[in-house]
This record gives sequence, structure tokens and C-alpha cells, in this order.
Amino acid sequence: MGSAAEFDPFEDGYQQNPAGYVAWARRDEPVFFSPKLGYWVVTRYHDVQEIFRDNVTFSPSIALENITPVGEAAKEILNSYDFGLKRTLVNEDEPAHMPRRRLLIEPFEPAQLAHHEPMVRRLAKEFVDRFIDKGAVDLVEEMLFELPLTVALHFLGVPEDDMDVLRRYSVAHTVNIWGRPDPKEQIAVAEAVGKFWQYSGEVLEKIRRNPNGSGWMQFAIRMQPDHPEIVTDSFLHSMMMAGIVAAHETTAIAATNAIKLLLQNREVWDEICADPALIPNAVEECLRLDGSVSAWRRIAMTDTKVGGVDIPKGAKILMMQSSANHDERYFEDPEMIDLRRVSASEHLTFGYGAHQCMGKNLARMELQIILEELTRRLPQLELSAQTFSYVRNTSFRGPEHLLVEWEPELNPERADPSILASKAEVRIGPNATKHITRPVVVTQRRQLTDKVVRLRLESPNGKPFPAWSPGSHIDVICGDTGHSRQYSLCGDATDPRGLEIAVLQEPDGRGGSAWVHDNAAMGTALEIRGPRNHFRLDPGATAYVFIAGGIGITAISAMAAEAQRRGMKYDLHYAGRSRRAMAMVDELRAIHGDRLHLWVSDEGTRASMPTILDHLSQGAQVYCCGPAGMIAELQSIAENWREGTLHVEHFTSSLGTLDPAVESAFDLELNNSGITVRVAANETVLQALRAAKVEVPSDCEEGLCGTCQVGVVSGSIDHRDLVLTPDERAEGNLMLTCCSRACGERLILDL
Ligand code: HEM
Ligand code: FES
Repeated sequence: MGSAAEFDPFEDGYQQNPAGYVAWARRDEPVFFSPKLGYWVVTRYHDVQEIFRDNVTFSPSIALENITPVGEAAKEILNSYDFGLKRTLVNEDEPAHMPRRRLLIEPFEPAQLAHHEPMVRRLAKEFVDRFIDKGAVDLVEEMLFELPLTVALHFLGVPEDDMDVLRRYSVAHTVNIWGRPDPKEQIAVAEAVGKFWQYSGEVLEKIRRNPNGSGWMQFAIRMQPDHPEIVTDSFLHSMMMAGIVAAHETTAIAATNAIKLLLQNREVWDEICADPALIPNAVEECLRLDGSVSAWRRIAMTDTKVGGVDIPKGAKILMMQSSANHDERYFEDPEMIDLRRVSASEHLTFGYGAHQCMGKNLARMELQIILEELTRRLPQLELSAQTFSYVRNTSFRGPEHLLVEWEPELNPERADPSILASKAEVRIGPNATKHITRPVVVTQRRQLTDKVVRLRLESPNGKPFPAWSPGSHIDVICGDTGHSRQYSLCGDATDPRGLEIAVLQEPDGRGGSAWVHDNAAMGTALEIRGPRNHFRLDPGATAYVFIAGGIGITAISAMAAEAQRRGMKYDLHYAGRSRRAMAMVDELRAIHGDRLHLWVSDEGTRASMPTILDHLSQGAQVYCCGPAGMIAELQSIAENWREGTLHVEHFTSSLGTLDPAVESAFDLELNNSGITVRVAANETVLQALRAAKVEVPSDCEEGLCGTCQVGVVSGSIDHRDLVLTPDERAEGNLMLTCCSRACGERLILDL
């Protein structure tokens, strides 16, 4: 149990387990002021994401500021080296930042990064070759420090010499910016930082003399003559130094954290050894659970609010991604390493929004290749007994050493040298891990009505599923038809052994339901994605009114069961055409008794929404899942309700498909950077932004999940999503870029 007064990021507790260190805050005081640090600390996913998203209200200008003020003696030393680390990208405000980012992003794009893959693979092999017969090493010493350093140097275009010097320099840089050195340490650190600065300048001059190489610095230098106001000399020198730290240490400690975490969870390590296709998602799960950047900084430019808490202008903010990544309000069963988690790559370790890490795909490639090489060649690897030590600082977190051991006699390549030739596919880029599916077997099939069948799905190996919250759904992959269909989970959310869905056969549906009815027999093996939840129950309501129409009862039944378990006040309204067609009635009656209200059209008790909602108590919330007409009626009744009172769930949408014959092209003006992007008639706003090298995250790409939301400054929006509330639409300052468009010629976006 901690408190705001005690919070001290230079304490061992924070270093060892930052998410656990602030578990109390995530629960009780998600945004708090730390007197010891002088920063506001933000711990929940949505709050951290919102700050990253709005880089105008929350300026990144302090990202590389010394968190411990530099003393006079240290300042003098830095001055003697002409130390002048200024604006790079990560601490640059708009409108300067985005043009620079877009101009310089090409070498980071997945297609360009593919050129580096053979180099990374060769290095990984060479490092492992050096120690494979030793039987025990410090993996940091032998591989994890130097490999990313060498890749970073290649990527940046820096000559490979002076590695040992650089090693001391970059750690000093971490302590300098994010640590709490005492006055004596400050002097030593200032010496190393000054030398690092000078060294970076010398390397830059070397590169300038021959700017034709393939490195990123050479690329930037070649851009300078045409864009001198974007690629300034000050930027180049600062980026040269900051780039080494950005590309090297982040990745080295991410790899160390990942291998430590996986070896501490042996069954997960073994699963990856058996199926290397799981490695890309394992990397994302490791970055989520034990990322290398545990917190990042912003400064408030105006009086504002975060998570309902007043934040004054000038307040410094520490966003704890390490905590956000463990937030159960966003990630189902957050402490579980789920190699098949669909949302794994939505961790905030790389930041989010306009400044999101440009090097993320290079880092992902390195981490995937390191894991692949180690799991393939040393599946018997074990952690040695050790105590983990960390460099004390707010932001960069990973053990300084990682002692491992193994039996060289058991090295698989001794028996079968051909394993050296095999390699798993590197997966990087938007949605690269979205293909991850989970194998299940149908272990029960019950006909609930003429048209509704209920299925119980279990893991083929009997392993438990991640815990899920009511309102969650899974996607069932319909064989090789190319279709998948979303189904809400309707079983017992506390039973980790099975997932249950009820499927209505819809003759004119998208094909998926008929496929499930015809193919999901007892014992059939299926692939699913999920669970994940876009329709969560707000625990803060004083009472719930649940309304289900037809098969919408699946999601609603799980929610009502949760309200019943928690002893909450609730009513459950279930409407259908005829009793024969209504699934689960007896089961619901047994659980909910008088709280269940049936509305059956052919018995003359058609549901009347105004009557149902007539006596809505203060603080009550309404959750509805049902046909489009029912949802539209509710939305119109709720037009003047307090925000957050009505929650609705849609399953399907046809909004992802565009018909260029009826669409028009329009312009997007990006307010913060002044860039204009044309959206053609046959593309979405999301596609046009990505083509213009402006990254916006996405998930469903059908207007269902809200992931691709951006702010709109002006222009009339043609909303086509199923996410925004009528109030939000009326306000007109948000849009979902995967489906919504402009009504007129132009939209000004808050990007
Ligand atoms: C696991 C490894 C890495 C982690 C955890 C990481 C993390 C981060 C974070 C947290 C930011 C700030 C994001 C924000 O403000 O929204 C960032 C920015 C950045 N990173 Fe990384 N990084 C990693 C690897 C790399 C690599 C390998 C490179 C270069 C090759 C790189 C280059 C950059 C650059 C240039 C930016 C500034 C982007 C901007 O402000 O527009 N990073 N990174
Ligand atoms: S990506 Fe899901 S709403 Fe756009």
C-alpha cells in the first residue's frame, strides 16, 4: 500500500516493479501530485493515452529535461564541452515537430527496415555462436547490450568503433536526464555527458564528409539543403546524441526484460520454443508487461483536467506507461502473459499519437529476432539465482545483468545442425499481430431455440482462458471463407475453462452465422480471436437497467449476472417477437427472478422504451444490445441525458466498405503541423493519414471500437461510426477516421 506522499521513483520498489508500486493509485487515486518529485503522476491507461494524444495542451518539451536540476559545478563542466542538447523530435512542439517527423520517417518504414533484417539476423547468430558452448553467461554482457548498440549504429550510420566508450556515455545520459545523481555523481556524469556530446559532434562531422551512406543521419543530412529550416544543425547534433540513446538502450533493456519475464514464466517460454509464430505477440506482451520505458513526461500548457482532476498550467506530468499497461480497465486479465492477446500491441510503451516512437518497428524486429535465436538454439535456457539491480531513474527500466545457464550437451544444434537454417517470419507494421488466433474445440452444442445454438469452447490443451469481463466478445474465424463474426460471451465470466456464445442463424446475415451453424459440431476445432471488450460495465453506476432485444441477450446476460453477483440494483428487460424464439429465458428467470421483465410482441406485451425508462434513478446507467431500431429509439430518448448514462453495443457494421462512385474527395488540414492531406473518394481518412506518414492507431476498422478517434477543430463531419454518442456528434470535435468522412470540402483535424 503506497500513497502520494511516499511516491519516490528513485526507490527500489519503483525500479523492481513500477506497475505494482502504484497499484494503489490505479485503484484509488489514479492522478496524484507527488511532493517528492514535484510532478503529477498519471497511472490509468485512458488518462495516459489522452495526454499522449493531445500534444498541444500537454507539451513534450520537457521530455529530455534533467529531472534532477544540475548543480553549478556540473553546469560548468557541461559548458566546457559546449554541451547544447536541444530540440530533437521527441521534445519538439508543433508546428515544428510534424513536418520534421514526416520528412525523416521514411527509413523507419517497414519496407525500408526489411533491408536491415539480414544484418540483425547475422548479428544475433554471431553473438549466440560466441557463447553457445559456455553453459552460463551474463546475457547483457554477452549479447543484449551490444547487439542493439551495433544495430543502432548501423541504422544511424555511425562508425562501429568506440563501443566501450559509448557504453559508459549512454548510461551516464540516462542518469543525467532521468536519474537523481548526488552532487559528486553529477560531476562524473557531466564529464561523461560532455564527452558523449563532443563525440557525437565528431561523428556527425565524419558523416557530413560522406553523406551518401544508408544511415538515418546521412538521410537527414541529404535532406538539409532542401529543408534547412526543418533539418537544422542544432537538430542534427542533438539527434546524433539522443538517437543513440533512443535506439540503443531502450531496445537493449526491452530485450533483457523480455527474456527475464519469459524465463520466469517457463510454460510461456516453452510454448514459444514449440511455436515460433507466437514470437511477435510474445514481444508485444513483454513490452506491455515489462516495457523498457516505464514513464514519460509532458508539461501542461493551460489549466486543464486529467481523469477529472484539475491540473494547473505549468504542471509537470509523469505518465506511467508501465502502470497504464497493467490497467484492467483496458486490458482483460492484465497480469496474464497471453500470447494470443489481440490488444497486446496497444501497450503504451512506445508512447502514442504524434510522437509515438519512430523506431518501434526496428525495435520489434530486433526483439523478435533475438527471441527467435535464443528459443531455437537454447530452449533449455534457465535463469541463474541472482538479485536484479536497476539504474535508478524514472524512465528507462531493465536489469543491469541477466545471468542465465544451460546444459551445452542439450543444445539442439549438436543433434541436428539443420535447425540453424530455419527462421520465423518477422512481423512489423500496423496490425501486424492482428492475425493472432486462439485454437478452441467445441465441447458442447445445445439448440436453445429453432434458430439459436449455444456453443461451449475450450482450449484443446485444457489451459485456462484469460479472465474476461462482461460485455466481452470473441471473433470466430469461419474456416477459410475469409469471414469472421463477433459474438458476445454469455457464459460464466468466472469460469476460466470455457467460453460460451449463442449464435442466431441469420439467413441474410454476412454468412458467418450460417457457417457456424453448419460447421461448429461437437468436437470441431475452431480458431477465435479475443476475448476483448468494447462494451464495459461501469462499476460506478448506482443502478443498472439492462435491455436486450433478441440475440442481444448474450452480452446483456453476462452483464446482468455480474450485477447480480455484485449485489447491485438492476433490472433486466428482454424483448423478443415470440417466446419460442427467445433464448435463455428459463436460465435467466432462475438467476434473476422478478428482476427479469419479458416483453413478447406476439403475447401483446411489446417493449415500450419510454415506459421502461420512465423512472430512471439518479446515477443509474442503461446498457442495451439489440436490433438497430431499438438502439436508435433509445438513443433518441437519451438525447438529453447526462453523458455516460446510455451504453449500446453493435455487432456488425457495413461501414468499412467504401463505394467510390458515391463518395467524394476532400482535404484534411492538420492543425498542429499545418499540413494538408487529400482524402480520395476510394480511401478512408485513416488510409490517407497513413499514406501521408501520420500514424493513427486502429483496431476494428469498421467504426466499432473507437481506437482510431482523432480531434476535429472545424468542418462538418459525416459520422459513420457506431461509437460516438449523440452529444459527441453534436459537439462535432471528434471523428473516427476508419469510416467517417467530411460533409464538405475540408476538415481541420487536431493533429
Ligand atoms: C523497445 C525499444 C524502444 C522503446 C520502448 C522506445 C520508446 C519511445 C518513447 C516512449 C518515445 C516517446 C513517445 C511519445 O512521446 O509519444 C519514443 C520516441 C522516439 N523513438 Fe523510441 N523507443 C524504442 C526504440 C527506438 C529505436 C530503436 C529508435 C531508432 C532507431 C527510436 C527512435 C525514436 C524517435 C526518433 C523518437 C521520437 C519520435 C517523435 O517525437 O516524433 N526508438 N520512443
Ligand atoms: S478502428 Fe475501430 S472505430 Fe476505427
